[in-house]
Amino acid sequence: MSTDINPNDRAIAEVPPSVIGEVIPILDFGSQYVQLIARRVRDAGVYSVLLGPTVTIEQLKKLKPKGIILSGGPSSVYEKGAPKPDPRLFELGVPVLGICYGMQSGCELLGAKVEPAHSREYGGVDLHVTDASNLLAGLPAKTTCWMSHGDQVQSLPADFEPLAHTSTCPYAAVKHKTKPFYGVQFHPEVTHTPHGTDLLSNFIFKVCGCHATWKMADFIETEIKRIRQQVGDKRVICGLSGGVDSSVVAALLAKAIGKQLTCIFVDNGLLRKGEREFVERAFVGHFDIDFRVVDASEAFLNDLKGITDPQTKRKLIGSRFIEVFKESAKSIPDAHFLAQGTLYPDVIESGHGYAGTAANIKLHHNVGGLPEQLGFKLVEPLRNLFKDEVRKMGAVLGLPDQMVWRHPFPGPGLAVRILGEITPSQLSILRDADEILLEEIVSNQLYRKTSQVFAVLLPVKAVGVMGDGRTHEQVIAVRAVETQDFMTADWARLPYDVLARISTRIINEVRGVNRVCYDISSKPPATIEWE
Ligand code: XMP
Repeated sequence: MSTDINPNDRAIAEVPPSVIGEVIPILDFGSQYVQLIARRVRDAGVYSVLLGPTVTIEQLKKLKPKGIILSGGPSSVYEKGAPKPDPRLFELGVPVLGICYGMQSGCELLGAKVEPAHSREYGGVDLHVTDASNLLAGLPAKTTCWMSHGDQVQSLPADFEPLAHTSTCPYAAVKHKTKPFYGVQFHPEVTHTPHGTDLLSNFIFKVCGCHATWKMADFIETEIKRIRQQVGDKRVICGLSGGVDSSVVAALLAKAIGKQLTCIFVDNGLLRKGEREFVERAFVGHFDIDFRVVDASEAFLNDLKGITDPQTKRKLIGSRFIEVFKESAKSIPDAHFLAQGTLYPDVIESGHGYAGTAANIKLHHNVGGLPEQLGFKLVEPLRNLFKDEVRKMGAVLGLPDQMVWRHPFPGPGLAVRILGEITPSQLSILRDADEILLEEIVSNQLYRKTSQVFAVLLPVKAVGVMGDGRTHEQVIAVRAVETQDFMTADWARLPYDVLARISTRIINEVRGVNRVCYDISSKPPATIEWE
């Protein structure tokens, strides 16, 4: 992607035209919670877009924003080089909400003094609300808020009014008397601030006067038009993995361009039981598209013979995938475009969306290089959406619930869930155990309550007893986690009786397993996968 275009211009150009005039841009000063702020605003039915702090008011004007949010960030406003909003920000005349660092920089711009706090405040603290009108409407006089700051506004000029305080932070929430500026020192976007969503709602609707106009059905219509315009009469290839993102991309493209779409599903021999059939069932017959299954399992499994190192497994699988995909793409000579399920967090984290100041840590392990190697132009219809919005889109497009709510499954599939060497017999044991596990999770209504559940086959043998004889067989680890973003995760507190049934069934029904363990590690320090 070209780097010549100003990243803020690019991000602004991607805002759906239907929301111009009803959008809340968020200036990202490097907060770890910035995506959460954007999600909360969109959850309220108002489109939000993340922009770099260097965005000018001329750029902002193009969006006709209803309000602006200044995020938190790790800097100190008095430090040299600290990111600052355009000093003419308030000339726009639209309400501004500053959160943490955003509050400090907004207050500073309006004449307040920011200094290091006497004591760093971190975690949940009591918030005393003294003015429960407008921004804090509906909040109880005493509630909890989440703090994470070293600096704070120490003295408030006369043209500000305090709205709330904590025992160590005299100005935990403030408003300017004449300018439409509100500031909160705490983080309303995190769940540890129980009334945070109410506060954001108050800002969006009471203060900014937004209408909840961000509707998935409208977005789908706009995107369909955009895709048709981009693609013209050319053919698009979509690599379908069976996961939510690629399935939603395929469903959207099927609606937009139907017969011009070819979906390629690569069977790498590392899929769960019935996976290929499940994806075929969901697409063939329901969508009028060219759907091709490429069975390359032999090649993948051959590559993996004797390999035990996790990263080598990933590398081999990644390059074989590119090889297989390239080969199948050759048989579609009129294809010009490749559709990908890139999501908004990927765009933000890879620094392509805007000049973000947060550290760019790419946390997932997908092998890149596909479009570059194939010379296709990209179609990325989900690049402005969060995961929950993608699920909503899938549901509106008529994908089955089972597809829309699928837990993620890693690209290298069962290869990273069989610790040690991958053999057909190990694959068969893991597939059977995983199938039982998922059956129990679904039938006990736990699938939607968990984020990812799977079985792992450990490379050890344990002693057991069956009938009169001793056994020496393998161990299955059950992993079930709850998470918002897969960057941190906690192990799911599955009911004991469900765990008991899972264990009994796996040991009784899967030949070669005599022990089941439950993984009670959180991430960090563990990861979700075992390899
Ligand atoms: P970890 O194990 O890093 O996993 O806590 C976080 C999320 O990423 C998935 N994951 C992968 N996805 N290729 C993928 O496409 C991979 O190599 C890979 N490794 C982990 C994991 O399933 C979880 O959802």
